[in-house]
Amino acid sequence: MCYAIPGKIISISKDGKTATIQYFGELRNAHIIGAAVSIGDYVYAQGGIVVGKISETEALPILKLWKTKFLELKKVDEELASIPENISSLLQKAEAGDEEPLTKEEMRDVLNIKDETELNSLYQTANHIRKKRLDNACCVHGIIEFSNYCMQNCLYCGIRCDNKKITRYRMSEEEILQAVDYAVDRLGFKALVLQSGEDSYYTDEMLISIVKKIREKHGILIFMSIGERSKECYIKLYGAGAYGVLIRFETSNSKLYARLRPGKKLDDRLELIRWLKSNGFVVATGFLIGLPGQTKEDIVNDVLLTKSIVPDMYSFGPFIPHQETPLFAAPSSQIAEVLKVIALSRFVDQESKILVTTALETFSHDAKKAGLLAGANSLMINLTPEKYRKHYDLYPGKTGLETENWKPNKEIQETIKLLESLGRAPTDLGV
Ligand code: 5AD
Ligand code: SF4
Repeated sequence: MCYAIPGKIISISKDGKTATIQYFGELRNAHIIGAAVSIGDYVYAQGGIVVGKISETEALPILKLWKTKFLELKKVDEELASIPENISSLLQKAEAGDEEPLTKEEMRDVLNIKDETELNSLYQTANHIRKKRLDNACCVHGIIEFSNYCMQNCLYCGIRCDNKKITRYRMSEEEILQAVDYAVDRLGFKALVLQSGEDSYYTDEMLISIVKKIREKHGILIFMSIGERSKECYIKLYGAGAYGVLIRFETSNSKLYARLRPGKKLDDRLELIRWLKSNGFVVATGFLIGLPGQTKEDIVNDVLLTKSIVPDMYSFGPFIPHQETPLFAAPSSQIAEVLKVIALSRFVDQESKILVTTALETFSHDAKKAGLLAGANSLMINLTPEKYRKHYDLYPGKTGLETENWKPNKEIQETIKLLESLGRAPTDLGV
């Protein structure tokens, strides 16, 4: 199984920092950080970074397999992503893109669409833009949730420190390395997120040791999703080979932020996120949709704030109330609200990577597909070892918990099938 297609380096910039990689005749650029590569090498790129090199003997059969398949998939995608007929002037303007960007009022109008036919046109238009601007690549990342201890007390979150009812766990270094080996060697992942609550049990040194050990063995892109740590810690993690960070700002409304995240300030969070971006990290960020007290204007601002960060990936999802939190009685957001935000983000940031988050999948079995057909182009698969995953209880209804014998392989097979049916290639071709 393969979650990235190898490409051949055909040139390297004079400063040695950028490789131009050829994939079936198409050229993409990717940054070279610490990898010893030369022209003619076959490499994997993830998130716009060269993460690993493979021999020609290994690469050629993979490319042969993909060549025909790639063209077949593109045809399917083209058919599904045609522009709908008779679209409204609002959607026509959205489709046109940056020359005359949507105003905030128009963005709000998009979020206010209710009519079923109009909603379908909205999603289709966004999907059309995705196809036109980025073609059919869809990256599939894995996530390993290695600790559910958290010292923060966010009002919306099931693993907040005040929730005494959950069983807490921490994976040892050895367990984390084993889970990574399994994800990479057995399942073929090329990009993994290591996520935990804010858990100071793991010292900077422990995290760095884990990252170093992973990178000694595997050419993959590692995203850390560990909340607010010192900049020194992040610099050391980057040095050890973790070039990605997944960190949401949660909401662009500073008052709402302060209310929902006791003791925390939105400005501090944003300062860190922007600092990470300007220091070369691959940044995935975003917000929650449907928080109590959040308005449509807030969501418009959430999308615009995400865009202003110039993220490598949009990661936003629905708020789902958790029984053991102060927000237990708040209404849950609806799938259409999230799909509208996916489409809107595609309109305002047409070349972005937009993730279908695991929380969206709690709505229905079809939510992944609906997200991909509303403009999204990335997926995340939960690879947390079975004995722990039920305890990573951020919100109720997480997928993959319903069966006793959940196997990531099954979810992966289903995802591959879904991607094929939509004409998407499970890959990340760099930028
Ligand atoms: N519903 C949906 N997402 C949640 N998160 C935390 N609690 C919830 C909830 N009740 C998300 C936050 C955080 C990520 C790790 O999980 O956005 O950034
Ligand atoms: Fe901790 Fe993150 Fe949950 Fe807040 S949202 S309580 S920081 S895990």
